[in-house]
Amino acid sequence: MELEALNKPTAEDKKIQEELRASGNIPGHIAIIMDGNGRWATKRFLPRVAGHREGVGSVRDIVEVCGQLGVGYLTLYAFSTENWNRPQDEVSTLMRLLLNSLREETDKLHRNNVRLTAIGAIDKLPGEVQKKLADAISITKGNTGLTLNLALSYSGRWELVNAVREIALKVRQGEIELDDINESLISDHLTTSGIPEPDLLIRTGGEYRVSNFMLWQLAYSELFISPLYWPEFRRQHLYEAIRDYQNRERRFGLVSEQVRRRNNGGEKSLAAKIFQTITGE
Ligand code: IPE
Ligand code: IPE
Ligand code: MG
Repeated sequence: MELEALNKPTAEDKKIQEELRASGNIPGHIAIIMDGNGRWATKRFLPRVAGHREGVGSVRDIVEVCGQLGVGYLTLYAFSTENWNRPQDEVSTLMRLLLNSLREETDKLHRNNVRLTAIGAIDKLPGEVQKKLADAISITKGNTGLTLNLALSYSGRWELVNAVREIALKVRQGEIELDDINESLISDHLTTSGIPEPDLLIRTGGEYRVSNFMLWQLAYSELFISPLYWPEFRRQHLYEAIRDYQNRERRFGLVSEQVRRRNNGGEKSLAAKIFQTITGE
């Protein structure tokens, strides 16, 4: 019974995953804007919340397969700062769904060696959710597999405002000098401090925008927009996104020739140094 719940790939998944590993890099950090729940439901003449409920199935499937593939970090944009302004009953349903998912899934995450973390204004969430979330984070904190990072009551601008405040306070208190402010200091004051920047950003629901998500961290992420609504997005679509990612040339502002030299293991070139700074590889 315990074993059944463990995250073992089927033979077919195993084959696809081996092929993916052989054909290129598996992204170390995948971030997903899970959009289109409402439209999925409306198209079926269902209330929007039915789409949110169905979307939980996609979360389960994508988390499971990221764990199997050896993805290091999966960040899911589940609720934005602006989403608080939606109709009250939709907000309450989303919070209840989150609470129930934490109740039902924490054990399984733990058994599958998943470490749960969260970013955002967590203190704005209902007390019960905060408690369950803190429990789940604490239960799974020693796990060494996939890190599942939930963005809740999160926005990129909210995060940047907080970082600027913290840094300004440190300057005022004489802890740091103005000259100490650089990219790495700013990164260290973001909620994602210690987490590598996303290699691949997936947005479902077909919109070509970032909707206030990870504004700093997405600087050099590869973007994949899927026309599918989030409840329809399952493992085969993730495989497709990763295949697409593997065919991109990440140039980080350089020219192809420099990138090729770096990838062919040439001498420690300028490209290698820039790659190292940006990707931490
Ligand atoms: C994403 O789906 C879930 C949240 C933002 C919480 P939406 O609810 O935005 O669905 P659409 O975009 O209206 O279809
Ligand atoms: C982005 O989706 C936020 C989440 C998926 C949590 P939205 O539906 O809120 O974004 P917009 O309104 O289409 O930009
Ligand atoms: Mg939306």
